[in-house]
Amino acid sequence: MRTTVGIIGAGPAGLLLARLLLGAGIDSVVLESRDRAYVEHRQRAGILEQGTVDVLRAAGAGERMDREGLPHDGIELRYDRKRHRVDFPALTGGRSVMVYAQTEVCKDLIALQSKEGGPLLFEAEALAVEGADTTAPRVRFRHDGVEDVLECDYVVGCDGFWGVARRAIPEDLVRVFERTYPFGWLGILADVAPSHDELVYARHDRGFALLSMRSPSVSRLYLQVPEGTEADSWSDDEIWAELERRFETADDWRLERGPITQKSVTPMRSYVHEPMRHGRLFLAGDAAHIVPPTGAKGLNLAIGDVVTFARALTHERRTGSPALLDAYSETCLRRVWQAERFSYDMTTLLHRAPGATPFEDRLQLARLERIAASRAAETDLAEAYTGFPFG
Ligand code: FAD
Ligand code: DHB
Repeated sequence: MRTTVGIIGAGPAGLLLARLLLGAGIDSVVLESRDRAYVEHRQRAGILEQGTVDVLRAAGAGERMDREGLPHDGIELRYDRKRHRVDFPALTGGRSVMVYAQTEVCKDLIALQSKEGGPLLFEAEALAVEGADTTAPRVRFRHDGVEDVLECDYVVGCDGFWGVARRAIPEDLVRVFERTYPFGWLGILADVAPSHDELVYARHDRGFALLSMRSPSVSRLYLQVPEGTEADSWSDDEIWAELERRFETADDWRLERGPITQKSVTPMRSYVHEPMRHGRLFLAGDAAHIVPPTGAKGLNLAIGDVVTFARALTHERRTGSPALLDAYSETCLRRVWQAERFSYDMTTLLHRAPGATPFEDRLQLARLERIAASRAAETDLAEAYTGFPFG
């Protein structure tokens, strides 16, 4: 098989890239190791930055998002039984975010690709990228039990943190920056209307909690838990009781309970792989970087990477100049490091590390009070949350 751009992985990065390339008249093939149902139902991100919303609309993939997504103009910070709302449009000149689940973004992009786009092969596992530093890179893959080769002009590894693409970059050219955290998130989906109309990020001496949502009738909630916690070690009643404690306020706000339909634990890490390009192999999304989920940057970074790649390749096609492709890694990494910084700041602002001292507790509260009291500090948060411009 032969194509211009071989894309490994049909997560949001790979799927949107195929769509953007189609719009630019560039053909591609997407290889995805899992089946379609798995990709469409894997419960993950929920918040789309303003720039991501704009890109999905411009790519013709925003119709259902605009109908069913929930535009949000702010978040609430909760600490010391107090509540502080951050008003995004007022602080950023009109920017906001959209609550629309990653599962739905993927479903919309898969439907469009199946109808209008090039080949999207499910249960097609990439085994290795070969010849990355030549003009004819290849992806070896296995589909329906048969090994095959995809011959390409470019390969983009959108294959997530556990993928194979980045292994094709020689180790002596690579630097990895990494940090793991001694806690994770226990996430639940519950069939109950969200108890607040905006997201609530709560800092509590017992640990962090987040109230989010998937629709007007489905709540998504997270609890900070110790690293290595098994989701099933928490009963439903224990989860609700702990959420109630951490969200407690001095006023009459109440958390509504409902049937829990899904439970899982996510580990937390920060990770950056530099460079994000080697020859004609480009890495995008979680294949190149991971952020802890606090602040909702992962999916949005993945979208920024593929927008940058599609623009760069289109530029090369139009002008013959590889300048933007050559600058790909540097361009993406500038935004990646801003998101790494913000996600780290939000994580350390709101989580209670094991063994945290009373001094550190007071510092967290002082940082939160600063955001509540200073328009400059609050603007810094609002700008980062609603998203940095794509490079
Ligand atoms: P992925 O979605 O991981 O997709 C990679 C794809 O490649 C997968 O489909 C995989 O099956 C496939 N693949 C892997 N190896 C191979 C192979 N060898 N051959 C072929 N295919 C392969 N981000 C946000 O922006 N906002 C949020 O609110 C948010 N919340 C999150 C909450 C949780 C609980 C979690 C876990 C993550 C959250 N994230 C959030 C992060 C976000 O989900 C990821 O950053 C995003 O999925 C990255 O997209 P991607 O396309 O790069 O990678
Ligand atoms: C969600 C996830 C996040 O990491 C976040 O900061 C906000 C919302 C969510 O899954 O809804």
